[in-house]
Amino acid sequence: MKNFSWQLPSKIYFGNGESKKVADRVNELGGSKVLLVTDRGLEQIGLPDQIKTMLLDASIEVEVFNEVKPDPTVEVVESGVKKAKDFGCDTLIGLGGGSSIDTAKAIGMMITNGGEVSDYWGNPPKNKPLPMIAIPTTAGTGSEVTFVTVIKDTKKKVKMGVGYSPQMAPDIALCDPELTVSAPSHITAFTGLDALTHAVEAYTNTKHDPVSDIFALKSIELIGKYLRLAVANGDNMEARYYMLLGNLLAGASFANKLLGIVHAITSPMGGYCDAPHGAVNAILLPHAMKFNYIGNPEKFADVAEAMGENVVGMTDLEAAQQSIIAVQQLSRDVNLPSGLSKVGVKEEDIEDICNAAMSNVNIAINPRKPGVEDLIAICKAAM
Ligand SMILES: [Fe+2]
Repeated sequence: MKNFSWQLPSKIYFGNGESKKVADRVNELGGSKVLLVTDRGLEQIGLPDQIKTMLLDASIEVEVFNEVKPDPTVEVVESGVKKAKDFGCDTLIGLGGGSSIDTAKAIGMMITNGGEVSDYWGNPPKNKPLPMIAIPTTAGTGSEVTFVTVIKDTKKKVKMGVGYSPQMAPDIALCDPELTVSAPSHITAFTGLDALTHAVEAYTNTKHDPVSDIFALKSIELIGKYLRLAVANGDNMEARYYMLLGNLLAGASFANKLLGIVHAITSPMGGYCDAPHGAVNAILLPHAMKFNYIGNPEKFADVAEAMGENVVGMTDLEAAQQSIIAVQQLSRDVNLPSGLSKVGVKEEDIEDICNAAMSNVNIAINPRKPGVEDLIAICKAAM
């Protein structure tokens, strides 16, 4: 019965075909010159062009910035800021996976605040970023509703959580499940397991509250039910719809209530290797759960039940252990690589990564208090 506060600043439009009303959404924000932030992979399948045509048909000017790559860097953000300023855009659209949305968030923040991207590492910007619409094409990061953007500083080997504040949330999250059909099965798997990690960590950490519990538990249920179907058959629209919804609910939960040791570790780990964020999270998740479940067996038992496990007659401890088995089985079913070494993490970096992880904001709210030796043991077990 704790006191709590909760907010979801982004206005959400959700459903099949919603992206076709993108011009209405730009008009809603009062925009007339849009910078469309995306990547070349999506350009190849024509998605940015379709959005651009819809905007031009509504007499809205558009420029496309297509330089986004996975794990967007400071340099990419700076290039986008230059393009946005040269064009004089008044509205941003981030179209793509979390990388495109995060890049657009960072560009919008830099334009209205100035300075260096690293100035906002862990710090809120003074001024509200440019008006922005996020259009996700994967069901994973939840960046369309979160209060932070993750930008990599390649020279310092760190992934920075930039801007921490509700005003970093996109003004509009335009969530159209039809746009996620183009995601290949391995991306669907990794991003879906990232969303599951968000939901499990937000549900079980000590900062959780009754609202985040409802969102996160429903998210776990949806991902447990639909991720296999979306991976097995990418044009299963029911699976795509509920995966995008599960991702949204997880994003809203962790935007408000943060995460746990998995993200504490993968945040610095992302600076040391180019492994997909979702894959490293998912590989670590069952190992972290093994460490964490004695900190709150009741909540991990709920995770097992939400994932469809039959826990009737089990004690909380037994059911909590079942949640680990359920996550491992889901990961195997969607072909997650079996260890961190398979995705480019090097054993010799683990100590440095775990030392850096100890100062992450998610350590203090983890369900079980970890020491650096615990994090190292978790990573080694996951190699
Ligand atoms: Fe994540």
